[in-house]
Amino acid sequence: MKIIVVGTGYVGLVHAAVCSEYGHEVYAYDIDENKINEFSTGQAEKIEKHVNEPGLNNIIRETLGKYLFFSSDLESIIEGADAIFLCLPTPSNPVDGSTNLGFYDAATADIAEVVKKRKDKRRVVFVNKSTVPIGTARHLKDILDSHEVQNFGVASNPEFLAEGTAVVQARLPDRVVIGCEHEEDFKILRMVYSQFVNHVRIKYIETTLETAEAIKYVANTMLLTYISFWNGVGAKIGEKFPNVKIDDLRIGVTADDRISTWGSFVSNGAGGSCFGKDIASLIHQLRRVNVNTKMLEASYEVNEYQKVYLIERAINEAGYKFNNKNVAVLGLAFKKHTNDMRDASSIKVIESLLGKGVAKINAYDPLAIETAKETFEPSKNILFEKIDYFQTAKEAIKGTDALFIYSDCEEFRGLSRTIEETAKPPYLVMDGRRMIPDFEEMISRGYSYLAVGSMVMKP
Ligand SMILES: NC(=O)c1ccc[n+]([C@@H]2O[C@H](COP(=O)([O-])OP(=O)(O)OC[C@H]3O[C@@H](n4cnc5c(N)ncnc54)[C@H](O)[C@@H]3O)[C@@H](O)[C@H]2O)c1
Repeated sequence: MKIIVVGTGYVGLVHAAVCSEYGHEVYAYDIDENKINEFSTGQAEKIEKHVNEPGLNNIIRETLGKYLFFSSDLESIIEGADAIFLCLPTPSNPVDGSTNLGFYDAATADIAEVVKKRKDKRRVVFVNKSTVPIGTARHLKDILDSHEVQNFGVASNPEFLAEGTAVVQARLPDRVVIGCEHEEDFKILRMVYSQFVNHVRIKYIETTLETAEAIKYVANTMLLTYISFWNGVGAKIGEKFPNVKIDDLRIGVTADDRISTWGSFVSNGAGGSCFGKDIASLIHQLRRVNVNTKMLEASYEVNEYQKVYLIERAINEAGYKFNNKNVAVLGLAFKKHTNDMRDASSIKVIESLLGKGVAKINAYDPLAIETAKETFEPSKNILFEKIDYFQTAKEAIKGTDALFIYSDCEEFRGLSRTIEETAKPPYLVMDGRRMIPDFEEMISRGYSYLAVGSMVMKP
């Protein structure tokens, strides 16, 4: 099949690469020429700068020029396309949480103008891989009709990848969800995904456009709500009731097959480009049809609160004063194995610390330093000048009075020895991911320790 992937971000680039592995002729298109030029080199560091996903470079290196092509000129690649996958950004409107379809509408109108002029009039399916509100595929159909595009179908094929393991999941997803109106469009997508149709493990689900769109929102909202349940209830029980051990609580509860282990590890909140915006969008979509959204609002609020509440606990429970302190923040990306900082908890905590008058922040992340420098560009906020970036956790800890562990990078598990070698007590460790198993020994040597899910421990 000839496939065009529009938008080479996390979703588009991974989708394009994995489709090319299966021998489709894939053209990845983006308006960002710089990205396209860098991806076209096939060089790991130029790809990782934009999308850092384990295994992705290898696929691109192997298929580039054979099955995978990059272009910023849609007209030159459109002839003969069977499917056009739309992997465009669909951000939130900050005012009401609704989905901002501005990018999407502008891009699809431009694409429609190009597709309309193609010589080859074979059927082409426009496939929404972006997460879009229920009803958007039908809205897409109207856009294409209004531009007089001929012989096309629309489909909804939501993406469920999790960053950090995107390639593994794209090669072996839990499910492939396809919403269409016409059998001929289902047929085209069965050809695209032929490796997954009738797979022994993968659920290949064919349904209506709207159901496919709804599946994505319900899934993400469910995941965030489950995380928020553990952070809002489980973690709080561990923090407020003496002798409750949160890890034992988690293991005891999730021993029941009906209760998921995933999401039960308490934390400093879930970030990333999707959870927050998708739940906000679903709340907006439900309110418009007069559905009570209290439960979803609560799960959103718990998650946002969790991103910064260790600061409050340090002040109220450990009597800590942040004014003029040097503070290290380790873990800037929203989770391990990615350089993506969209909606990362680190952003909220760093902004809050700066507001509390810290003297300096030493920041470290194994992959996300360059993203952090853009995120905290001092022209956006003069206080960002107080942030220094380091190549190792040890260097970042040097000279600080307190430390936040803010992501689940494996290297942070061994941090107690590094801390003890680098920073002398009094020193406060705030652990948003419960990464230090031997914290009791640290406390016996004079360090204070404050973790999500446990009472404050002071020497
Ligand atoms: N990132 C994830 O983990 C994830 C997972 C599942 C679903 N999604 C959804 O997939 C969609 C894309 O997410 P993403 O993380 O890949 O976004 P992204 O911001 O990383 O990438 C979007 C790309 O689209 C390009 N683009 C913008 N306008 C364009 C246009 N007019 N023509 C061509 N290209 C254009 C941008 O240059 C960018 O490269 C969103 O709807 C998101 O909610 C994301």
